[in-house]
Amino acid sequence: MDAPPIDPVALEATLRPFGQSTMLPRGAYVDAGVFAWEDRHFLQGGWMCVGRGEDLADPGDQRAAMAGGAGVLLVRADDGCVHGFANACRHRGHELLRGGEGRHRPIVVCPYHSWSYRLDGTLRGAPGFESLEGFVPADHGLVELPTAEWHGLLFVDASGTAGPFDDHVLGLEGLVAPYEPERLRTARRHHYVVQSNWKILSENYQECYHCTMIHPQLCAVSPPNSGENYRSSGGGAWVGGWMALADGAETMSLDGRSAAAALRAVGAEGRRRVIYVVIFPNVLLSLHPDYVMTHLLTPLAPDRTRVECGWAFAPEDRDRPDFDAGYAVDFWDVTNRQDWAACESVQRGLSSTRHTPGPLSPREDGVYHYVTMVARGYLGLPLGSPVVPAP
Ligand code: FES
Ligand SMILES: [Fe+2]
Repeated sequence: MDAPPIDPVALEATLRPFGQSTMLPRGAYVDAGVFAWEDRHFLQGGWMCVGRGEDLADPGDQRAAMAGGAGVLLVRADDGCVHGFANACRHRGHELLRGGEGRHRPIVVCPYHSWSYRLDGTLRGAPGFESLEGFVPADHGLVELPTAEWHGLLFVDASGTAGPFDDHVLGLEGLVAPYEPERLRTARRHHYVVQSNWKILSENYQECYHCTMIHPQLCAVSPPNSGENYRSSGGGAWVGGWMALADGAETMSLDGRSAAAALRAVGAEGRRRVIYVVIFPNVLLSLHPDYVMTHLLTPLAPDRTRVECGWAFAPEDRDRPDFDAGYAVDFWDVTNRQDWAACESVQRGLSSTRHTPGPLSPREDGVYHYVTMVARGYLGLPLGSPVVPAP
């Protein structure tokens, strides 16, 4: 692994014990060389979330996505499994589908010279090559990438070097499983482009030290000092924590009321809290008693990130004619915009070459967990924290 263009001595300051450490060096947020390194090693080089399984509901559904700078073709095959392929025809490399587009078709056809592939990626037809001596169709299947569908999210390892997916989410299954995100259906999505580094969004998400200053609506339904962060990921590449709902609040909404039933497998404890998890590098997963909100981050540039925020509900609620997801969407759209404004201001602040990394408050242990994970990644160390979670 090539070393990132970042001072390892400065990373030592980030990795000091909590209470003595400082934030990541400024270059991590503004330097194009660091961003390119992250693309190679974190985005293309790791397990990146490239979408939702529900967007490829049926065999034959196809969708083009990006894992960092790498184009990926996602296809649900006849056996129900989603395959990820390099989105490049084996003839002369034309994209099989344009980025962001989707279609339903029982085969994959290249729009350039019409080579075609089965849904499992094997070559089906290459016009004119039938008579060509030495042409072996089996040698020209699509390049398959390690792909995982986990609780309704699709992850791809575009480099093929990231290791087992299960290791990536080690320690997370027990937290997420009761919410059955794979069963839920997205009712609404919002798209934002935030003028901020992608890591700043995750750092902001991991602390509520800022909540009393910028989130009056949030503080009304969730005490900003409540909850705690999980002290260890148990080895997986994630960080997280939970916050309590205020007395009388059923969920995160402007009036604390919910328009949906509590999710069927969420227990009494889960009904009084919201769990917030960052799955490295690009998922922010917010587990509410009655809905799951997912932010998918697409880093576009050192100072620009696209965010797709989706709100998913139990099908029995979402499909009610009178169901209105607005109670959740409106609350979080207000809160999202407050957060994006803060993140954009941090990015502008970091434009000063005189800025030096600052310390973390006792209430920013979640940020500490996140930035030390990133720092370990820069140093080529495992992302996950090795310590067993405290009871
Ligand atoms: S590049 Fe796809 S058929 Fe030629
Ligand atoms: Fe916030």
